[in-house]
Amino acid sequence: MAMMGGISATAQDRALPPVQNVMAYESMSLNGNWNYIVDVQEEGYYDYRMNPTQWGFFQNAKPKRPEDLIEYDFDKSPVMRIPSDWNTQDERLFFYEGTVWFKKSFLMDNGKLITDNSSVPANCQFPIPNSQQNKVLLYFGAVNYDCHVWVNGKKAGHHIGGFTPFNYDVTSLLKEGENNVIVKVDNKRHAQDVPTLIFDWWNYGGITRDVKLVKVPTLYLQDYSLQLEREKTNEKNRTIAFSAKLNQAEAGHKVTILIPELKIEKTFDTDAQGNVQCSTFNVQSKKLQLWSPQNPKLYKVYISLDTNTVTDSIGFRTIETRDKQILLNGQPIFLKGISIHEEKPNGGGRANSSEDARTLLSWAKELGCNYVRLAHYPHNEYMVREAERMGIMVWSEIPCYWTIAWTNPATYENARQQLTDMISRDHNRANIIIWSIANETPHSKERDQFLGNLAKYARSLDSTRLISMAMEVTGASNYVNRLNDNMNEYVDVVSFNQYIGWYRDVNDAPKMHWEIPYNKPVIISEFGGGARYGYHGAKNQRWTEEFQENLYRENLAMLDKIEGLSGTSPWILKDFRSPRRVLPGIQDFYNRKGLVSDSGEKKKAFYVMQEWYKNK
Ligand code: GCU
Repeated sequence: MAMMGGISATAQDRALPPVQNVMAYESMSLNGNWNYIVDVQEEGYYDYRMNPTQWGFFQNAKPKRPEDLIEYDFDKSPVMRIPSDWNTQDERLFFYEGTVWFKKSFLMDNGKLITDNSSVPANCQFPIPNSQQNKVLLYFGAVNYDCHVWVNGKKAGHHIGGFTPFNYDVTSLLKEGENNVIVKVDNKRHAQDVPTLIFDWWNYGGITRDVKLVKVPTLYLQDYSLQLEREKTNEKNRTIAFSAKLNQAEAGHKVTILIPELKIEKTFDTDAQGNVQCSTFNVQSKKLQLWSPQNPKLYKVYISLDTNTVTDSIGFRTIETRDKQILLNGQPIFLKGISIHEEKPNGGGRANSSEDARTLLSWAKELGCNYVRLAHYPHNEYMVREAERMGIMVWSEIPCYWTIAWTNPATYENARQQLTDMISRDHNRANIIIWSIANETPHSKERDQFLGNLAKYARSLDSTRLISMAMEVTGASNYVNRLNDNMNEYVDVVSFNQYIGWYRDVNDAPKMHWEIPYNKPVIISEFGGGARYGYHGAKNQRWTEEFQENLYRENLAMLDKIEGLSGTSPWILKDFRSPRRVLPGIQDFYNRKGLVSDSGEKKKAFYVMQEWYKNK
């Protein structure tokens, strides 16, 4: 089966591009208890080809006669709260890398969908299947890593990639009475995957983000874009650009945008491709509040297609570079950041809710941040939207991490698909200022070609934001560190990770100098060191809070000497699980570089960083 990016080529997929602003549509959540079967040898997938009548867990078969042999039963299997990673929900699955099957049932009663926990009735009337007015999409916020989806035993689709949304048109698969969704999730790692075999975070498997049935009109806005143009028309006016794309190639449909607070109402016609080509209109500068960390202003926007309307909250701002400066709304800004992995604040595995986002981002705010690096993959949508409301700018990244299979076309297609879906989901979020295409990738011409194409492709999708990637610094000689990466020509912002004081040159930070020969803004996208919270001692004692505190003091003094430094996102906000960190009593499968422990306690280095930002 030829794998093309996120979608296999052979399955008769009902996959549609992820609907833009899915939260705006009526939906019924399928979150809650799902039955699950751990299937180490994929018994439930491959055998059905030999006995099609009997196997294939997706058939949810039940014995009909006393002599029937069926060796699985979802309804008698344990249940797991979804969304979640299975590693933290069942201790037998803590290290598990393989296949787990999930099943969720729900009722259709005369067009009304009812989840099995009838305490949560459907919040909308869904159409009787095959109706003309609406479609029903089965939407997943993310599933890690490779999943096949069936509805009532019929294949909905196959998706690859652990951190981006996908949805299937299941309208014709739903039926009156009992329905079920069955998902086969496999989180095994492979050399050709994105990320590849090795990465410094836990390989959390499962249905890790929201699942819902979404009602969209038969003809809907598959995508739209509403952004402030960088160029000023003149001092009095600013220009807003709008474009849209229907899910069908139909001309002559009316698309109206209404921004009441700005007294803007504009109507456009779709062309033969079902598009509203990029159209601009003016707004008086004095009336427009630009989005910024100090004033994260969002405007209520109503976007109508014929008689169907979706609402969104849109911020207007510009982001650009000038020589070594990053300009937000034309003004130089220093990115006071912190790196964050997508983990619950309390050690509970994958973060996936707005309360998780609020807690993590409140710690970043307390640190004095106006910016976060969401590493090393697109985070859930709550994190991005919460940061937008809180005035926190975002670096969003796809997991082209370390030793990717640079010469494998399917790997490139996978990375390209993940990049497409990351940008497609979030390109209307004012707070996202940087798309990152990679982290710490070893230099080679194959890697330069792979990432160079990816950078050009990212720019073709979105020319309004900055492109970057976390590079690596080549070794020092006589205390001079030189950044030398061919990829510098492809990025707007030159970013790199450095671990002076932790992985190398312990105690030498004060003597270090840096040579960055590119006339572009510079971000140090990672620096830091580990400490176990509560372990105290001399500042040269590895793993003590005092060691980490001293490392931050010395690194920050070194950063102050780097000309053109436009920002930093120390590694990392919170201790996070990693299978590579096995030192007993200190790491215990946690990477301890957090400024906050995995149970939310702030280490001494937190306050050193907080002080530095306060004085920035
Ligand atoms: C690397 C990498 C991180 C990793 C960190 C570390 O730079 O980008 O993902 O966790 O260093 O070694 O702790």
